[in-house]
Amino acid sequence: MQFSALTNRIRSKESQAWDLHFEAVRRMAVGEAAPDAYVLLSVGDPDFDTPRVITDAAIASLNAGRTHYTEISGTPDLRTIIAQDYALRIGADVLPEQVTVVAGAQNALFSALLTLLDPGDEVILFDPFYVTYRDTLGVCGATPVIVPTRSEDDFIPRSEDIQAAITPSTRALLVNDPNNPTGAVIPEAIWREIARIAITHDLWVIVDEVYRELHFPGARVPFTLGALPGMADRTVVLNSLSKSYAMSGWRLGWTIGPSQLGDHAAKLNIVMLYGGPEFIQDAACVALREGAVHAQAMAQAYAKRAQIVVDTLQQAPCLRAIAPQAGMFVMVDVRACGVSAPDFAQMLFDQAGIVVLAGDAFGQRAAGHLRIGLVLDAAVLQAACEKIRALAERLAAKV
Ligand SMILES: Cc1ncc(COP(=O)(O)O)c(C=O)c1O
Repeated sequence: MQFSALTNRIRSKESQAWDLHFEAVRRMAVGEAAPDAYVLLSVGDPDFDTPRVITDAAIASLNAGRTHYTEISGTPDLRTIIAQDYALRIGADVLPEQVTVVAGAQNALFSALLTLLDPGDEVILFDPFYVTYRDTLGVCGATPVIVPTRSEDDFIPRSEDIQAAITPSTRALLVNDPNNPTGAVIPEAIWREIARIAITHDLWVIVDEVYRELHFPGARVPFTLGALPGMADRTVVLNSLSKSYAMSGWRLGWTIGPSQLGDHAAKLNIVMLYGGPEFIQDAACVALREGAVHAQAMAQAYAKRAQIVVDTLQQAPCLRAIAPQAGMFVMVDVRACGVSAPDFAQMLFDQAGIVVLAGDAFGQRAAGHLRIGLVLDAAVLQAACEKIRALAERLAAKV
């Protein structure tokens, strides 16, 4: 039987990044390995429980019978809270109609790209980029144009590289800030350059902010592009509760953009989702109204874990751990160890039972780096990092 041409555009090699992860999970599940044989630092799923105040709100909503279809683009309460928060950030009015509630940031990305792009449009991505970006663009038939960032710049993009990538077919930039996998937060000066380029070339800027609330105390605070003159109408924000409130399994995310985008997204939503669950949106309101204290506590815990990883790995001269400003990951440059990142990850898997991702999955600029997830408690991370350091030192001794 024949399948659509689309299926060829959603098979990029990026998904293979998780092969070691799934192998470890499989071995532990079928008893080929002890249930605690592998330390999984490979996923971007928070190890924290969803805060109780949020789960209680969902239970209360379920018990109140709020289990029916809702407004297609999200409940008025939730859209109002999201719009009001964004209005404060950009210093201008934002209507609830500009907000569309969907099933997580991935779904928000899908919805935004389908409503903004045509086949053949070029979209600028910064390498390293989140693994699903390429295939999601592929669904729309859009072409990713990869702009490099550099490990030595702590993966902050350069204005001249963006400028050089613009062609008559460029339609949008897709920017993940704070970034997965690098933990980089783009400084205001570069955002101003992005705004200048976007206005000059009449481009959309899609900003994936899923790690925004997880910026570390004392680190650079993520900037709001929509606050710059002329940018609110060409900026589309994607966000979700998955990371900041440890709610990955709730599948609650949203887009914010101009009202017209809200209209188009609503029509797409009719054929894609037909609205989201009512009780989850009720709980999301509580998360956004009362959950900030929990999000901050999680950000502090990730910051502490990141410090442990950086301090421990930095002791090996052949490793360069790049201190993140936000998020749930640390990138470690292993190029001086004399092996590729996939080989290093394989050795860690085989010799130490530690599962990390080779950065190669996130683009060429992340090749030679490992992505370490900060998703286990500090003591377990510390022990794992000591094993990573020991392996690096053994490898470096052979170089
Ligand atoms: C940068 C980035 N964007 C989007 C997503 C998807 O998030 P969600 O669970 O809200 O769909 C992730 C998840 O890891 C991510 O890292």
